[in-house]
Amino acid sequence: MGISHSSVYLASTAFALLGSGIVWQKVCSSPPEWIKELDMMGQPRKQKLFGTAVVCGGSIAGTVAARILADHFERVILVDPELHDIEKPRTRIMQYNATHALLSLFIDGARRLWPNLTRNLRPRADVYADLQLHYSGITVPAPYWDYPGGHLPDTLAMRRSTTQPTLYKLLMQHPSANITVWPGTVRGVTASDNKTFIRSVLIRKLDGTEIAVNDVNLAVDCTGRMQAGMKWLETAGFSLPENLRVSYKPNIRYATLCFTVSPELESRLPIPEYALNSVCAYIHSQHFTHGLSVTALLKTDNNTMQVMLTSCEDNLPRSVPEILPFMATIRGHEPLAPWFVETVEMLCEHCDSPSFDIIKIPEQSYVKYNSVPAGDLPSNFIAVGDAHIQLNPVHGQGVAKIMLNAITLNSLLHSIDSPALPRDFSARYFKKNADRTEGLWDATRLHDYGSSDCEPMAGETRDDGRFARWFELKLISAAMQHQEVASVLWRVRNMIAAERALLAPTVLWKALWTRSRF
Ligand SMILES: Cc1cc2nc3c(=O)[nH]c(=O)nc-3n(C[C@H](O)[C@H](O)[C@H](O)COP(=O)(O)OP(=O)(O)OC[C@H]3O[C@@H](n4cnc5c(N)ncnc54)[C@H](O)[C@@H]3O)c2cc1C
Ligand SMILES: *[C@@H]1O[C@H](CO)[C@@H](O)[C@H](O)[C@H]1NC(C)=O
Ligand SMILES: *[C@@H]1O[C@H](CO)[C@@H](O)[C@H](O)[C@H]1NC(C)=O
Ligand SMILES: *[C@@H]1O[C@H](CO)[C@@H](O)[C@H](O)[C@H]1NC(C)=O
Ligand SMILES: *[C@@H]1O[C@H](CO)[C@@H](O)[C@H](O)[C@H]1NC(C)=O
Ligand SMILES: *[C@@H]1O[C@H](CO)[C@@H](O)[C@H](O)[C@H]1NC(C)=O
Repeated sequence: MGISHSSVYLASTAFALLGSGIVWQKVCSSPPEWIKELDMMGQPRKQKLFGTAVVCGGSIAGTVAARILADHFERVILVDPELHDIEKPRTRIMQYNATHALLSLFIDGARRLWPNLTRNLRPRADVYADLQLHYSGITVPAPYWDYPGGHLPDTLAMRRSTTQPTLYKLLMQHPSANITVWPGTVRGVTASDNKTFIRSVLIRKLDGTEIAVNDVNLAVDCTGRMQAGMKWLETAGFSLPENLRVSYKPNIRYATLCFTVSPELESRLPIPEYALNSVCAYIHSQHFTHGLSVTALLKTDNNTMQVMLTSCEDNLPRSVPEILPFMATIRGHEPLAPWFVETVEMLCEHCDSPSFDIIKIPEQSYVKYNSVPAGDLPSNFIAVGDAHIQLNPVHGQGVAKIMLNAITLNSLLHSIDSPALPRDFSARYFKKNADRTEGLWDATRLHDYGSSDCEPMAGETRDDGRFARWFELKLISAAMQHQEVASVLWRVRNMIAAERALLAPTVLWKALWTRSRF
């Protein structure tokens, strides 16, 4: 009897486990909310919200935010000191000359905002969102097998000097856009008497005149690295907790070498076809214990190719003869792909000297507006893009994260049926964004702590995230062997799956049972 009892128990436990396993699997692999919300992008509301939305900062976050807000508000004002001549190179964006590879989520959203986007960005807008990632030399495949005909979602590699003015032009041409551009600088905001909302935004125009926009229904901080909104709120008398902004220093330097390549030379380069059809032809990410070094090759617009090199030391090449010796210092479990090294050799030999753009990445930071006690945030303030969270650029997620913020903003606005914003609008925006993007901050930060050059956030040590790094290496190793794991990892990194997808039983099982290669 004992036996039959325990076997009934076992059978029912097994059944319950299997049942919950199936539910667990389903929950983990269901698409995230924001993918469903993509369909609402570009849909103007019938009854516009009252008043003016002021977008402070007119780079990528500002352009996307202004476009979304034009679907919702009677009037949108976009303020940036460098918008008077968009063809002029931007000087206030440190990474203006840096290599940018965009994840597919950005293009997916931007196409809904600007249906003729792709036509305007040709010929480099139709490459697969395959980063050709090699972790410590070993290929981490992209899941072509998941898509009919192997058509992975597409995206683009951009030079900001060409892509950013195009986005801005599209913004200005958009038929529904009631957008006024004010070249100038936002100096601050003023609070309502009872400090529940922002009453006005103070602007200094280029000619020095100071003006205030008074009927502000929404103020959006898109000031990027400046994260100026925090200062504006403090100065206006809103009470913000201490340590609202957290930061750490990955201590990396980032070099973009831009070569002009003649079509004749391009046809002779030993770049495989599959690599040319990918957003990056090649990326090599050094194992973090050797330092946060990423090396990449991208084909960009106008017969240009960019080589991206990073280093924790001040040893990046500043002239052609220094390039190959630097590349020889890159370490891995497998060497750099021989065709990649040969390509760079040919570029060095046959092209004019490339431009060398070297920047030191100061720090990564996150303004935790979602931690402000309920009622202390002004109801009509939000931050989009780097003004909210600034991620380590070597992971290439910053621009797609802008789109994720924008999708969240758009769906939140669509959920409001009164003509004015509710008191908890800002809190709801930041809470939802924290749910969706804090994982990116944690994953990239804890990864970076694996490097001995990284200076952790106050209150943390490099020991934090030991388990996360162990699991990351297991996942990467499993992705090298199992298509299912490679798919999920690629989707999560491209922000088209939620992180919970990594915890689906069939994925977790494979990750835990695969021996780490590293
Ligand atoms: C070296 C490097 C490489 C990168 N590579 C990639 C990549 O490959 N893929 C990717 O997705 N992301 C990448 N990123 C991240 C990406 O560049 C950023 O996430 C993105 O530029 C953020 O855009 P933003 O509009 O939020 O801010 P920014 O582009 O920094 O723009 C801020 C804007 O605010 C304006 N401004 C500032 N203060 C004021 C004020 N007081 N009033 C009015 N305007 C103001 C400035 O003039 C500027 O136009 C990289 C970043 C770096 C540093
Ligand atoms: C555009 O904004 C102005 C106010 O600046 C307003 O009078 C007008 O109705 C708006 N137009 C549309 C199409 O919303
Ligand atoms: C970008 O490169 C140009 C030309 O090399 C240079 O003049 C400019 O200062 C660079 N911009 C930034 C923001 O570094
Ligand atoms: C994009 O489409 C809009 C209409 O939707 C049109 O007004 C505009 O001229 C187009 N822009 C370009 C650059 O083709
Ligand atoms: C603050 O003032 C506004 C009007 O200026 C009013 O509508 C709102 O109810 C007030 N809120 C609180 C919490 O006092
Ligand atoms: C790219 O080429 C086009 C046409 O050949 C030219 O109009 C444009 O200015 C070039 N852009 C850059 C950034 O060099």
